Amino acid sequence: MGEPVMSERGTNSITKAAEEHHAELWAELTARVYAVIGAVARGADPEPSRGELLDYLTREVVPHLRTEERMVYNLARGAGERGLVAAMEVDHRALLRQVESIKKAATPLEAAMAARAFLVLFALRMEKEEKVLLPVLAEQGLDVRELIEGRPEIVGTPSPG
Ligand SMILES: [Fe+2]
Repeated sequence: MGEPVMSERGTNSITKAAEEHHAELWAELTARVYAVIGAVARGADPEPSRGELLDYLTREVVPHLRTEERMVYNLARGAGERGLVAAMEVDHRALLRQVESIKKAATPLEAAMAARAFLVLFALRMEKEEKVLLPVLAEQGLDVRELIEGRPEIVGTPSPG
């Protein structure tokens, strides 16, 4: 057996940072998705909230998804987890398609439905990553910490102080 690449503590702290960043993305995303749905339900103009949702997706969420796909999925593929990665890539593509659907929605109702679909898919993707992908990599002794540390798209930016 080879030397473990990382300490248990290092792994736990980095997966915790990834989970905390997920929680933050989730909270911000939920607020924006429900702003769109709320506007549509009230019969108000959903354009301002759709614009804010798309802005947040473009600025924070899509970079997070793309960075993970590029870095973490590659690591998992290299570790022989091809099937798992292929399954996660199906979700990844579905998420990106939903962003396009939010952008191109021809009616407020379509925009609200696409926003809600994105939110549900995002929740599943987050959970698979935290409960399946990262633990599988950690079990294999792979240095997830070194890979994702210092990537604010994945672990967020440390709060000041
Ligand atoms: Fe993630």
